[in-house]
Amino acid sequence: MIDLKDKVAMLGDIISDAKKRRSMLIHSFHKIQKEHNYLPEDELKALSKKLRIPLSDVYSTASFYKQFYFTPRGKKVVCICMGTACHVRGASEIVKKFSEAFNVKPGETTEDLYLTLETVGCIGCCGLAPVLVVDDVYKGDLNMKKVAKLISELESERPVVQATETIKE
Ligand code: FES
Repeated sequence: MIDLKDKVAMLGDIISDAKKRRSMLIHSFHKIQKEHNYLPEDELKALSKKLRIPLSDVYSTASFYKQFYFTPRGKKVVCICMGTACHVRGASEIVKKFSEAFNVKPGETTEDLYLTLETVGCIGCCGLAPVLVVDDVYKGDLNMKKVAKLISELESERPVVQATETIKE
């Protein structure tokens, strides 16, 4: 028969095992997102199984953090500041230019997964307003000429999707 001391020790082991498995979650999310640029459902299901953590807990933990995404993101992420200083200096017009150039609204990704357009509140460098961030690189003091140049640079780096020709017999 197991005495109380052993039961407490066993319970302690179970709790610490569960804690260890949970502590692996965030690290795993980072690894998955680094590989896929977002958290695909299949990967989260596999993670849930591997760590023996209910899928609902995996999702609720991931969704708690703003840096994890559940839908595919572009190779390039353009994030336009819409804080007050940037807004009064024409951020809306910049968003419009990017939307038109890449045919996406804020929060959307191009079909070829090249570019994701996002907007955000103040990013802390109002002195450079209007500001945007492309893949963690800040671009400030923007005007429409600089925006057009940036768009054309991004367009020039965009991989060309080859149309596949169907040969009919
Ligand atoms: S409002 Fe855009 S950086 Fe502060």
